Amino acid sequence: MVDNPADGWFPESVATSYDDPGGANAPEAVTPAVAVLESLADGPVLEFAVGTGRIAAPLAARGVPVSGLELSRAMAARIASKPGGERVDVTIGDMTTTRVPGQFSLVYLVFNTINNVTTQDGQVDVFRNAAAHLRPGGRFLVEVGVPDLRRLPPGQSVVPFALSRTDGYVGFDEYDVVTQEFTSNHVTVSPDGSGRFRRIPFRYAWPAELDLMARLAGLRLKHRWTDWDRAEFTADSTKHVSVWETA
Ligand SMILES: C[S@@+](CC[C@H](N)C(=O)[O-])C[C@H]1O[C@@H](n2cnc3c(N)ncnc32)[C@H](O)[C@@H]1O
Repeated sequence: MVDNPADGWFPESVATSYDDPGGANAPEAVTPAVAVLESLADGPVLEFAVGTGRIAAPLAARGVPVSGLELSRAMAARIASKPGGERVDVTIGDMTTTRVPGQFSLVYLVFNTINNVTTQDGQVDVFRNAAAHLRPGGRFLVEVGVPDLRRLPPGQSVVPFALSRTDGYVGFDEYDVVTQEFTSNHVTVSPDGSGRFRRIPFRYAWPAELDLMARLAGLRLKHRWTDWDRAEFTADSTKHVSVWETA
């Protein structure tokens, strides 16, 4: 099938292998996230950038009423075939602007996807749009990596994050610390020497900048954990799971 440009960076050719076993799809990655989201849900929940339902489907399977908002039709088309996925109510649209019918106890945006919005204004709009979907006392949860700036010595802009000689795979991020834009780069070389290079643009924000975006949207920080195990966020945390609450 030919990729549809309207599906952005996650068209059919990406969606087709998104659910491959292991990594972010492994039960040890999915189950703790679903457990935390279930514990925070106090009524209907909405996943921004729901993708193929990696998290939304198992959450719905636990009985939580889940809606999803997603830009890519190719990704969203996979949700219904998963256990629980048939219960996820999906809207195709842009999380910076699209309004999903209903009021929610929790809106969540996981797996670094706030970074897929590549401008500060756009990220602020995500927070405002999330807040607009919350009922009083509702919460917005974001899971995202801490920018890897401590691994960038002066004069260097590239941080490698994966090197596997056996799989012929190299991954590296390239940072622009002026614009806060960065790209994730994935190089895969097959045994016959042919290769594939995929580059995705992102924008990083320090946790404190996200807190300001939340305040602009009328939200206050309630929790900041270093991971789904709710461990304390520290100077050495490489990611955070943050929860803001309506004021
Ligand atoms: C890394 S995937 C995450 C999918 C899912 N949340 C998960 O955890 O597996 C990023 C998803 O965000 C979607 N996306 C990116 N920008 C978006 C936007 N502005 N509005 C809605 N979805 C968006 C992409 O199409 C893709 O499906």
